[in-house]
Amino acid sequence: MKKFKVAVVGVGAVGVEMIRVLRQRRFPLDELRVLARSERVIEVDGEKYSVKQTTPESFDGVEVALFAGTEGEKGAAVTFGAEAIQRGAVVIDNGSDFRMDDDVPLVIPEINGDALQNHHGVVANPNCTTATLLMPLGPLHKAFRVKRVIVSTYQAVSGAGGKASEMLRQQAEMVAQGKKVTDFGGFPDRIAFNVLANNWKIEEEGYSNEEWKVMTEAHKILSDKSIQMIVTTVRVPTFVGHGESVYIETEKPISPEAARDVLSQSPGVRVVDEHSPYEGATCPMPIHAAGKDESFVGRIRRDLASKNGLLFWVVGDNLRKGAALNAVQIAEHLIQKNWLKAKTPLKKIAAAK
Ligand SMILES: NC(=O)c1ccc[n+]([C@@H]2O[C@H](COP(=O)([O-])OP(=O)(O)OC[C@H]3O[C@@H](n4cnc5c(N)ncnc54)[C@H](OP(=O)(O)O)[C@@H]3O)[C@@H](O)[C@H]2O)c1
Repeated sequence: MKKFKVAVVGVGAVGVEMIRVLRQRRFPLDELRVLARSERVIEVDGEKYSVKQTTPESFDGVEVALFAGTEGEKGAAVTFGAEAIQRGAVVIDNGSDFRMDDDVPLVIPEINGDALQNHHGVVANPNCTTATLLMPLGPLHKAFRVKRVIVSTYQAVSGAGGKASEMLRQQAEMVAQGKKVTDFGGFPDRIAFNVLANNWKIEEEGYSNEEWKVMTEAHKILSDKSIQMIVTTVRVPTFVGHGESVYIETEKPISPEAARDVLSQSPGVRVVDEHSPYEGATCPMPIHAAGKDESFVGRIRRDLASKNGLLFWVVGDNLRKGAALNAVQIAEHLIQKNWLKAKTPLKKIAAAK
């Protein structure tokens, strides 16, 4: 079996999870280069990795470059993505810089894996909230044709980067000791024992940039801009595992039983309810989803006013299916289909507009 030279760029919350997922899934590794801004040695699951500073030459000979650096002009993918592609690698990027670029497929393999065919050397991984939502929404859309989606999220702090979890821990200790929290870290206010609906930059029409990401990315992945998306993103004081409360309206009539049948047969989705408990629980919870690959769906119930409405609750690990796992699955899909090598690689990739 052929083995591949792989680079992981960034060793924050997502990068570390990528190393873990590559090992756990026994990805056929010929070489694993671990890159970031600064050199050091890190330990992941008892194994030491020497982290090198990222340079264009870091990508010489690399076939798969998994980017988990920060976003924007000085971010890893914008700085080094084109260099990696020119050297023959396929770039799989976790950031938002290229997601909406027409030349860049935005992929969840279980839902739109075919979009990977004829890629141009760069593939985008969706936002963690989009991926968690789309795992059940994709199959339900295929079966019942979703017309309208209303989502409210309960997003874990690790979605805000590696340092955010430490911030929650510190704040929780301070509050428990009766101390006033004055250092909010990257959050707009205290996150310990609090809920923040104002955690993201507010953009057009009063929607946050996170809300816009979910709305536009869902349209691109489902290839259907006609779906009405209404999203409210909220940060809650959990460490790992995004929860989402979802209401859908469908073209075809939908019942909880029919939706449950579809979801039970959907790869990567696990229904949790009184018929199918998980670790003793009949409702999905972040503490169960953390560290797991599946998206857990429960609380499936009908809209009492309409035969075309359904409510459910989904929880997924934002660092795994929301980031690292999906990126590695994209690489596996490319290898399995023999699509790894770009036929027409992009010379430049544009940063997000
Ligand atoms: N956290 C999530 O749930 C989640 C989910 C989906 C997508 N994402 C996206 O995935 C990416 C990584 O997120 P994260 O939470 O892991 O961030 P993070 O914890 O802040 O870690 C960022 C890592 O990227 C490295 N880095 C930043 N700029 C770089 C550059 N120019 N060259 C090389 N390395 C660079 C940093 O290196 P140093 O350590 O040397 O400073 C650090 O190791 C982001 O784009 C994020 O939006 C995150």
